[in-house]
Amino acid sequence: MTTYKLALIPGDGIGGDVTDAAMAVVQAAARRHDFTVQATTFDWSCAHYLRTGAMMPEDGIETLRGFDAIYLGAVGWPHTVPDSVSLHGLLLPIRKAFNQYANIRPHRLLPGVESPLRSDGFDILCIRENTEGEYSGAGGRVHQGMVNEVAVETAIFTRAGVERILRFAFEQAQARRGHLTSVTKSNAQKYSMVFWDEVTREVAADYPDVTVSHMHIDAMAARMVMAPESLDVVVASNLFGDILTDLGAAIQGGLGFAASANICPDGTGPSMFEPVHGSAPDIAGQNIANPIAAIWSAAMMLQHLGEDRAADTIIAAIEAATAQGIGTVPGSHSTDAITAAILSALEADA
Ligand code: NAD
Ligand code: IPM
Ligand code: MN
Repeated sequence: MTTYKLALIPGDGIGGDVTDAAMAVVQAAARRHDFTVQATTFDWSCAHYLRTGAMMPEDGIETLRGFDAIYLGAVGWPHTVPDSVSLHGLLLPIRKAFNQYANIRPHRLLPGVESPLRSDGFDILCIRENTEGEYSGAGGRVHQGMVNEVAVETAIFTRAGVERILRFAFEQAQARRGHLTSVTKSNAQKYSMVFWDEVTREVAADYPDVTVSHMHIDAMAARMVMAPESLDVVVASNLFGDILTDLGAAIQGGLGFAASANICPDGTGPSMFEPVHGSAPDIAGQNIANPIAAIWSAAMMLQHLGEDRAADTIIAAIEAATAQGIGTVPGSHSTDAITAAILSALEADA
């Protein structure tokens, strides 16, 4: 029987609740499909930082390297640790260290879910560049606290980095409906985004079966609300992809539904799976976080590990639960109740 070694980082706030839910579902799916998931939990979090002075130990990345996959709940507790410390001490270094340059975020409406913005009929796959661009961490501040203070944050785009995420996105489009929309702001940003558009045109020549559209991020934000059904695969830089995927979450009913996979496509390190949402301090500790985004992310993990049947079973169980009205309206069901409904749909499907 295949055994997968999984590094589990519940993190902060609702991270722990949704990770528990996702792992209960993963273990149930593993039993049904004859594989084993051996999870090792790491308590790396803002609480860990307050205790030790670091979000993770110095050899944290090396420790993670030995695992088949990483599953993360959420990181951040801004009341006690600044986000600039917590995210740069845990989540972002993992994405970079393992070259998880492709962040896959699907957006579609599950049966029975009420979206504040849209009815059914959209199925978008957002491919977010995940290791460079606006998140390069290059920059600085001078004359701090003075009237002439200047802060610079440099977005770094490399040809290799842009080309590989575009190729990844074109391949996703080939496997879906054959349409790719590349999102930039090349009317205002004259270096990086013009460069991105050029590389898109070059790479497109290798994928004649994919039709390509170029859109500016502002127009795209409107398009996602007004006509999301016109979109198939969307590719964007790190920051634009971050923003668009919270919008994608909104059109699919809320942040509790948006899943994500940080993929290391060349397999040189483990990939990491996590919901799009954060630690949600406003609802933490109340057993009301929607675990569906986390459970869906776990299904993406099993698919990545090659357990496609288990992944499909989990998605079907989520859909069976929402079709019965479980978890479809914020606050109507507890985290535990939604998880229990998904688990029982999974068992019933045996
Ligand atoms: P957030 O995603 O945590 O919350 C935004 C809103 O969505 C809140 O009203 C919250 O209650 C709601 N929400 C989020 N997840 C939900 C769920 N599963 N079910 C129901 N409602 C849900 O974003 P934020 O408030 O900007 O960030 C809080 C902290 O999380 C910050 O420290 C932030 O930096 C961090 N963060 C971490 C990640 C991550 O670890 N990947 C992602 C986003 C934000
Ligand atoms: C996400 C989050 C992170 C990001 C933050 C917490 C650094 O918003 O995964 O979408 O911007 O990548
Ligand atoms: Mn985000």
